[in-house]
Amino acid sequence: MAGRSVVVGVGHYLPERVVPNAEFEKTLDTSDEWIRTRSGIERRHFAAEDETTSDLATRAAEAALADAGLTGEDIDAIVLATSTADLTFPSAATMVQARLGMTKGFAFDVQAVCAGFVFALSNANALILSGQAKRVLVIGAETFSRIMDWTDRSTCVLFGDGAGALVLELQEGEGTPQDRGILATDLNSDGRYKDLLYVDGGVSTHTTGHLRMQGNQVFRHAVEKLAKTAEIALDRAGLGADDVDWIVPHQANIRIIQGTAKKMGLPMDRVVVTVQDHGNTSAASIPLALSVGKERGQIKPGDLIVTEAIGGGLAWGAVALRW
Ligand code: ACO
Repeated sequence: MAGRSVVVGVGHYLPERVVPNAEFEKTLDTSDEWIRTRSGIERRHFAAEDETTSDLATRAAEAALADAGLTGEDIDAIVLATSTADLTFPSAATMVQARLGMTKGFAFDVQAVCAGFVFALSNANALILSGQAKRVLVIGAETFSRIMDWTDRSTCVLFGDGAGALVLELQEGEGTPQDRGILATDLNSDGRYKDLLYVDGGVSTHTTGHLRMQGNQVFRHAVEKLAKTAEIALDRAGLGADDVDWIVPHQANIRIIQGTAKKMGLPMDRVVVTVQDHGNTSAASIPLALSVGKERGQIKPGDLIVTEAIGGGLAWGAVALRW
């Protein structure tokens, strides 16, 4: 017998405003055609002026709780992955905690940029397996539209806003790769690559700042590191790429997603792809894809899923889990 962190609910929220690629043609030297062919993105959602990351996160959390048939009172902890929290402090997670009517337990944010959800899932799993919580709400929520430089065509066309959430619950498994729940994780970071992807501001540098990225350099690291981290997580679970029903990758660029699937020897019909509709929503992209993948009827109970992501840090990792 072995304790497992099993997904018992999933949900997401996207802001109302949808911005097609053509919108950028009005203000930038770019085209719908360039954005589609270089990134796979067709449209993205942007939060309203008065809509914050904790607003999006709360809506996604409510959807996940409803899916699980639970309320905030049933949750012991919230782990929220974001790089765009409403305020410098308190954490967006504690704001969600209050909005869900939770008066016990604990909540905190995790910041690992686009890899944030993978880091949050791994931390939530550790909290459950170490006996510190029985039910954890794991959220990825971002408002990257707030940190875009709208004059930089190489970044501002790529990102979007949104949120997704999972409810994880401690259940007993057999201790085999056939168990439902999180089977293995792999986390990595390498701070030497800071200059490839960063925000040029922050509290101790006196400004909010804007996202800066050497896209083609990050691209190279992504293709090399993502298949490897996914294979490490699968290997730790006692499984291989052939066992995977769905790759649920971070949704940054369709060419990275295709390159990773190819390296793993898996066809694209085993990959959940949402990048065309959401753009890169950073830490929100994997839970959004899990929720949309379930809604579409792609992800079913018992399916073996591997998630993988890379982002600023660089930070990257993967989680192998059975739905
Ligand atoms: N419209 C038209 N032309 C453009 C645009 C645009 N929106 N953006 C850049 N270009 C131009 C460039 O100026 C360049 O022109 P030049 O050759 O005259 O200098 C040309 O297109 C090619 O630029 P590259 O950057 O080499 O293009 P590439 O094929 O690498 O695609 C992209 C760029 C889409 C950014 C890609 O590199 C990418 O997706 N990188 C990875 C992004 C990523 O995964 N980030 C990690 C997660 S994000 C996070 O953690 C916050």
